[in-house]
Amino acid sequence: ITRFPLIPVRGVPLMNYIANNWDNIWAFCPDPSDLLIATYPKAGTTWTQEIVDLLLHNGDAEACKRAPTPVRSPFLEIVSPPPIPSGLDRLEKMDPPRVIKTHLPFQLVPPGFWENKCKVIYVARNAKDNLVSYYYFDLMNQSQPEPGPFGGYIHKFMQGELSWGSWYDHVKGYWLEREKRNILYLFYEDMKENPRREVERIMKYLDLSVSDEVVSQIVELTSFKNMKENPMANYSCIPSPVFDKSISPFMRKGEVGDWKNHFTAEQSKLFDEDYEKQMKDVDIPFRTLI
Ligand code: A3P
Repeated sequence: ITRFPLIPVRGVPLMNYIANNWDNIWAFCPDPSDLLIATYPKAGTTWTQEIVDLLLHNGDAEACKRAPTPVRSPFLEIVSPPPIPSGLDRLEKMDPPRVIKTHLPFQLVPPGFWENKCKVIYVARNAKDNLVSYYYFDLMNQSQPEPGPFGGYIHKFMQGELSWGSWYDHVKGYWLEREKRNILYLFYEDMKENPRREVERIMKYLDLSVSDEVVSQIVELTSFKNMKENPMANYSCIPSPVFDKSISPFMRKGEVGDWKNHFTAEQSKLFDEDYEKQMKDVDIPFRTLI
């Protein structure tokens, strides 16, 4: 297993096997019925994907399991090192409407998504928890660059040097376009606070209507505890040399505010000062930063 180096694509550092396939990714043209779930890594992608899949199957977990691939919605980008098939290969073999995941920042989303007016769900998570979750992911995912010590990792995050680039640009890019492009912009903290409310928001955005009972069932099936046990959600299908689960499980903690167990007071202060500067031009209602 190789820890792939990062190569910038229009200034955004991406793993080299993604950067090397960039032309194919940019040319990808979705069907207007396709749905895109977009996130900065570790913001709640899998959780949202699970909710969407269950909504599309009227809460029937068995029907979800019969879906064709072990991890259901493919990433648009090639996320798996060869020989695991790329997201593009898998998408070509699926019939629309498809659910497609991406970590690409707004400006790198292939233009076909906007031309075809695809629906897009974006999930954002507060910066500090997102950073901590990404740190553990980089420790355990042997195809990501080495995270190094936590203190240095904070600097890389602030400078946008991690894979997929700057968290700040990512959350702002989709935020600024959300009205024009009809993007449903969700927050991880809202999902934790009131999962039922957020499941219903997703349902309405997708023009679906499932019964109250099914909504309750979906909330239950997508609780952290249940998803941790669910092989369709916990990435147990990714072979252990790639995801080293002895370092950290994919479904790690699922909490808001875990950053407090990792940042020192000094690191937190430095981070907050920088955050003010980087976020001063937008007013995105992130919570639980303090
Ligand atoms: P932690 O590392 O903080 O535990 P992604 O799917 O974008 O990679 O995000 C993974 C993060 O979302 C992990 O965060 C994971 O535990 C958390 N997560 C996944 N499913 C969840 C759920 N049902 N409830 C709460 N958190 C969840």
